Amino acid sequence: MTGSRIVGSGSALPQRIVTNNELAERVDTSDEWIIERTGIRQRHIAGAGETTATLATAAARAALADAGLKAGDIDLIVLATATPDNTFPATATKVQHALGCKNGPAFDVGAVCSGFLYALTTADSLLATGSANRALVIGAETFSRILDWEDRTTCVLFGDGAGAVVLEAPDAANPAKAGGPGVLASRLHADGAQHDLLYVDGGPSSTQTVGHLRMKGPEVFRHAVVNLSSVLKEVIEDADVSASDIDWIVPHQANKRILDATARKLGIPDEKVVVTVDKHANTSAASVPLAFDVARKDGRIKAGDLVMFEAMGGGFTWGASLVRM
Ligand code: UT7
Repeated sequence: MTGSRIVGSGSALPQRIVTNNELAERVDTSDEWIIERTGIRQRHIAGAGETTATLATAAARAALADAGLKAGDIDLIVLATATPDNTFPATATKVQHALGCKNGPAFDVGAVCSGFLYALTTADSLLATGSANRALVIGAETFSRILDWEDRTTCVLFGDGAGAVVLEAPDAANPAKAGGPGVLASRLHADGAQHDLLYVDGGPSSTQTVGHLRMKGPEVFRHAVVNLSSVLKEVIEDADVSASDIDWIVPHQANKRILDATARKLGIPDEKVVVTVDKHANTSAASVPLAFDVARKDGRIKAGDLVMFEAMGGGFTWGASLVRM
């Protein structure tokens, strides 16, 4: 049990909204097909001047304001992204500079759509060891910049955005395992044998180009439901709770059908699943913290609630975390 506490959240979306009908003017698709097969109705797409770093910085500022903290109170920044501003340095260092803080390390985590789970678990572990006191954990992406806009099987699925949480070291006087707020259990997995089902066909060391996202959607879909159901069961067991104790599932928002199938397998009713895929589409590492922030700000997620985060993405990578608010 690691036990760090979420004390604030924030999110940011590009101004420009692109509807399914607008995409249907560019590729052979339709609003009906996209809604029926994915649940997506629109996505936000970054414009000139909007990058992963600017979105991440805006989300981080909102999370700090929500927590009632200043940038100087942060001594660790972990940023999950597969679409960094530059190959190096880490986008986290750009965010650190933009926020105006200098305490402690800032680094990126690359686990694609599971990135926020990897970042949260890394930060939680560092806070639990006493290496840091207060972390910004951010998921931020501009997938619009790595999409093949002529490939209808992928370009309709993704959007841009950022979400952030402020994580504080465990409270020894009121630990999560005794009912206090904090991370109760986390599990991360990877299976590099599935690389070719979801990847970008470029990179500095292989092609010296940025490349485009490639995905065998139906195969990813099948793996997602199996892997997510299994990691959720592991975390439920590790935390010694039952599925019915969970107040909210905040899943990675890839496809409404994956969300429904995974919740059904665990016997969790639809009303407990936070859904933003209709408005944001798949924002990769940003989708979980974005959905979490939406559900906190609209009053659904409250203090004391048991919240399950889960995601699966390219690699494959997947993971889940159970947190008491
Ligand atoms: O975030 C990381 C994890 N990613 C995911 O979890 C994504 C997982 N996969 C999926 O969400 C789904 O597999 C997709 C949404 C990508 C595709 O849905 P599907 O129900 O698996 O459709 P499909 O790929 O089997 O395609 C069905 C048909 C095909 O036509 P034929 O061969 O039946 O004639 C496709 O060519 O739909 C066609 N199609 C489209 N039609 C209209 C594929 N993309 C489109 C499109 N518009 N955009």
